[in-house]
Amino acid sequence: MNARLSNRGDVDPFYAMELLKLANHKRQTGMKVISLCLGQPADGAPTAVREAAIAALGSDSQLGYTDANGLPSLRAAIGAHYASDHGVDVEPTRVLVTTGSSAAFTAIILAAFDAGDAVAMARPGYPAYRNVLDALGCQVIDLDCGPQTRFQPSVEMLDALPAAPAGLIVASPSNPTGTIIEPERLAAIADWCTEHGTLLISDEIYHGISFGRPTASVLQNSPDHVAVGSFSKYYCMTGWRVGWLVVPDALARRVELLLGNLNLSTPTLSQLAALAAFSPQAAVELDAHVAKYRENRDLVLRRLPEIGIADTLVPDGAFYVYPDVSALTDDSLAWCLRALDEIGVVLTPGIDFAPVRPGSASPTDGTRFVRISTAGAAEEIAEAFDRLKSWV
Ligand SMILES: Cc1ncc(COP(=O)(O)O)c(C=O)c1O
Repeated sequence: MNARLSNRGDVDPFYAMELLKLANHKRQTGMKVISLCLGQPADGAPTAVREAAIAALGSDSQLGYTDANGLPSLRAAIGAHYASDHGVDVEPTRVLVTTGSSAAFTAIILAAFDAGDAVAMARPGYPAYRNVLDALGCQVIDLDCGPQTRFQPSVEMLDALPAAPAGLIVASPSNPTGTIIEPERLAAIADWCTEHGTLLISDEIYHGISFGRPTASVLQNSPDHVAVGSFSKYYCMTGWRVGWLVVPDALARRVELLLGNLNLSTPTLSQLAALAAFSPQAAVELDAHVAKYRENRDLVLRRLPEIGIADTLVPDGAFYVYPDVSALTDDSLAWCLRALDEIGVVLTPGIDFAPVRPGSASPTDGTRFVRISTAGAAEEIAEAFDRLKSWV
């Protein structure tokens, strides 16, 4: 009997993960591969987090399931974090702990939208939003965002849509471009969404990794929209898989019920450890990493002209640079595959973030862009550019 295959499962690849798989394969053949394709900090979790994990393991606690919406102490700490960072009161009843922010997105999309609902997002934007929306039967509305708007959506773009979408997902700082939506612009987008009955989901998982510009939370504008956070990026805890959602009161119970059915709960050891991530000692370590990401960004921007790439937008935060490589190729995927094969350098093709629309070319097509991760070590970035320079 043939296996049954759903249409829902027919999602596009997440190319960064595909390239990672190919790179690991190359490594097994003995090639020295330099990977600048993943958004993963080179440093591990802060000392206080690791100590908290060891203490939790050493105690005689069972480390069993927690409440589906997370440990009450962690939910309270996340709420308090919004008060100290953004001056907003967030009741812990609106906070739900999730298995990375990835699980937060699945839960909020299921809780807020029905199949067929239109949800808008920036193009270029994080591929998993588009692919999960697709898999769940939502209609993705691409907002074409070029360098003129620093690759971020605007109220004018929303006004130009034929109808208000059910949802809008924004990310600031963004992946892949690292640009930040200014607080006034985020407020204007939030007001537009409130007026038009659009649920705004603000991906704030790169908060903390900003090079001087303020990063506003959507919760400063209204409790009626959704903020998504994560311990993966600033807190350097990618594999611990802890993220969170802050939702309007009306959605909290529904999301809790979905989380209980989808995941039962988020790993308990990771939740206990994450409590220590908000400590002042952790902040000292983490802020030193942010200074390194900024130096790495500057290194990449300095070296791009050596391979013939000019005028790259300066990212405001996160750990990515997103150059236009159309001077070198009109097929970013083929170019990235060749770079891996021939010189062992792994970059992410722009088509991950801005897939080509059949029948229409656009200057934001991902075929012209690549994403370079600056989350790793400066020496590796420098060596990758040495290789690229002799290669191009
Ligand atoms: C913009 C954005 N949102 C969400 C995620 C998911 O991260 P996690 O599930 O580790 O919190 C990522 C990961 O790279 C990302 O770049």
